[in-house]
Parts: sequence; structure tokens; C-alpha cells
Amino acid sequence: MSNCCSHPSAAESTGKFFSKRSKSYARGFRKGKLEKVQQYLIDEIIKEPMEGKTLLDIGSGVGKLHLTLLQHGAASAVGIDMSEEMLNHAKAFAQKFGLDRKVSYKQGDFMSISEPIDSADITMLDKVICCYENLDGLITASANRTKFLYALTFPSNNFLTKTIFKTEILVSKVFRSGFRPYWHDWNRVTNLLTHLGFEPKYSRSTLLWQAMVFTRNT
Ligand SMILES: C[S@@+](CC[C@H](N)C(=O)[O-])C[C@H]1O[C@@H](n2cnc3c(N)ncnc32)[C@H](O)[C@@H]1O
Repeated sequence: MSNCCSHPSAAESTGKFFSKRSKSYARGFRKGKLEKVQQYLIDEIIKEPMEGKTLLDIGSGVGKLHLTLLQHGAASAVGIDMSEEMLNHAKAFAQKFGLDRKVSYKQGDFMSISEPIDSADITMLDKVICCYENLDGLITASANRTKFLYALTFPSNNFLTKTIFKTEILVSKVFRSGFRPYWHDWNRVTNLLTHLGFEPKYSRSTLLWQAMVFTRNT
């Protein structure tokens, strides 16, 4: 938590950055739209029976993924995000869809949230690991709370996407923006999850984003 004289933490800056943009995320979802890469994840996840499944959506934004899976019959969801406004939109959507009793929300950095977070059958991180410096820590902590499926999206590892990200990183440094995106070694995603007892089940990409689903094998 910052006070009058200290710099905001990375989590606070990221939260504020996405709060300012939350309306545009909500606008898309209000029209019933998922991004192509999100649709890939949903189509793959719902190949499994959703009845009784618990969901953990980290960097849940306005709730697109977990609310869609609750509509497909999942039992309950926890949405976690650093952005207060993203979560306010998610709460409003949950109420509108009559799903508010099946979902709970926590604001903050998943890695340092003080309340206990239960393990879930399905964990999702949609465009989150590129917003966070500690890739290994975030994947390890979230995978350790996953009983069955681990689904995530991250930047496609190609020249165009790398150039866009590197430019955004440079701009955020030059303008000393509190928030900055990260270009990680994306091969570490599969390496880490394999090491943690998961195996890749599905992989599909758009020009900008990669969707992957892993299944726990131990
Ligand atoms: C690019 S947005 C994607 C939101 C959502 N998945 C979507 O596309 O609709 C990334 C979100 O992840 C959140 N975030 C990033 N790192 C996080 C962390 N460690 N814990 C909780 N939320 C995080 C940010 O606040 C932001 O709202």
C-alpha cells in the first residue's frame, strides 16, 4: 500500500492502468463477444464435463472466462485481479447473469493476497503472465492450486508480437508509466508446467496470442 510520500507498488500501478481500461473490456463482453484466443480456450475447456467444476481465474478482468464457464455448468468460481474497476464490472456481469452466488472476487496480486485461496479444478490466466515480472513464481503458485486443468494465454512467440511488446516496454520506460508489460522466455511456460506435473493438452495461436491448456498427470 502506498502513502502520500511513497511510490505506488507495481501491483497498484498495474491495477490503476487496467482500471482505466476496464470500460473497453466490459464493452466487448456486453456485446457477448470473446476474443478469438479466449474462444479457443473455452472451446477446449468445455470438452470436459463442467458440472461440479471449481474455477480459479487469475487476472480475471471483467469476468469473461469464468462467467462463460459458469454458464456452461461449472459449479463456482473465484476471480482475482489487481484492478478494482475490472472487478466491479465482473460483479455487475455476474449479477446480470444471475451467477453472483456462484462467484467470489478478491482484489490484489495473486502472489501476495493475504486471504486463503482454495485449490480449484481449473485455473485460468488469460493475458496475465505478460503483465507480471515474476513468471516462474506466478506459474508455480497458481499451478500448485490446480487439480485438473491449467489454461492460459500469453503472447505468440513471433517477430511481430515481440516487436510490439518491446516497443510498448520501451514507451512505458521512457514515459515512466507505472505499468509495464513483460516479454518473458515463453518456452519456460511449458518447461515449468511439465516440471510441476502437467502435460500439454492443447495449443493454438492467433497472430498475437497463444492459447495453451495443460492437464495434471500426477
Ligand atoms: C490484459 S488484462 C486481461 C484481463 C482478462 N483476462 C481479459 O482479457 O478479459 C490482465 C489483467 O491481469 C491482472 N493481473 C496481472 N497480474 C496479476 C496478478 N499477479 N494477480 C492478479 N491480477 C493480475 C491485471 O490487473 C489485468 O486486469
